[in-house]
Amino acid sequence: MPFTIAIDGPAAAGKGTISRAVAAHFGFAHLDTGLLYRAVGVRMLDGIDPVEAARALTPRDLERGDLRGAAAAQAASKVATIPEVREALLDFQRAFAQRAGGAVLDGRDIGTVICPEAEAKLFVTASAEVRAHRRHAELRASGSDMTYAQVLEDVRQRDARDRDRSTAPLKPAEDAVLIDTSHLDIDAAVAAAIAAIEARR
Ligand code: C5P
Repeated sequence: MPFTIAIDGPAAAGKGTISRAVAAHFGFAHLDTGLLYRAVGVRMLDGIDPVEAARALTPRDLERGDLRGAAAAQAASKVATIPEVREALLDFQRAFAQRAGGAVLDGRDIGTVICPEAEAKLFVTASAEVRAHRRHAELRASGSDMTYAQVLEDVRQRDARDRDRSTAPLKPAEDAVLIDTSHLDIDAAVAAAIAAIEARR
């Protein structure tokens, strides 16, 4: 029986870390759906039409090395406002969610649009400042020289674009469990997520 776990929330709230840990705990496959939008975003930066890029996307495009940086993130949040781009990425995400062994998908609209029937839904948040601190530390560790103020501005811009767009805006599903990681360390956040999912099994 497929069992789908939908994990949504804004940038750098801890979704990725929680999703990987949850997938490992339950032995489920994991899809970071942000990578799909990042892959389309970098193709747009390459000069390719984003709708065409989304329609032609293959799993190999998700292996590009430049998907994690701030330029890819900003481009992703721009292409993510285009309804035809979102539409083109829908089937792949839904097929992934139906995997027999169970699946964890993390993103912005998994519980609301992609998998409204998901067995378990989490909405992971944290204050913009906490998220910017975390993302800043990650970017520094990978050699970026962005300042904290630049990262905070980037996080705020993406939050606004994600929340205000008309197609699939960022918001918690009505039946999502909210987890605020502002004052939780990784172990506590993962434990809270697993407990919330266990309650739905
Ligand atoms: O999660 P990540 O930061 O990698 O996502 C990059 C961008 O892709 C987000 O800012 C958002 O605009 C977009 N996105 C989306 N829907 C998803 C996942 C990501 O719109 N399910």
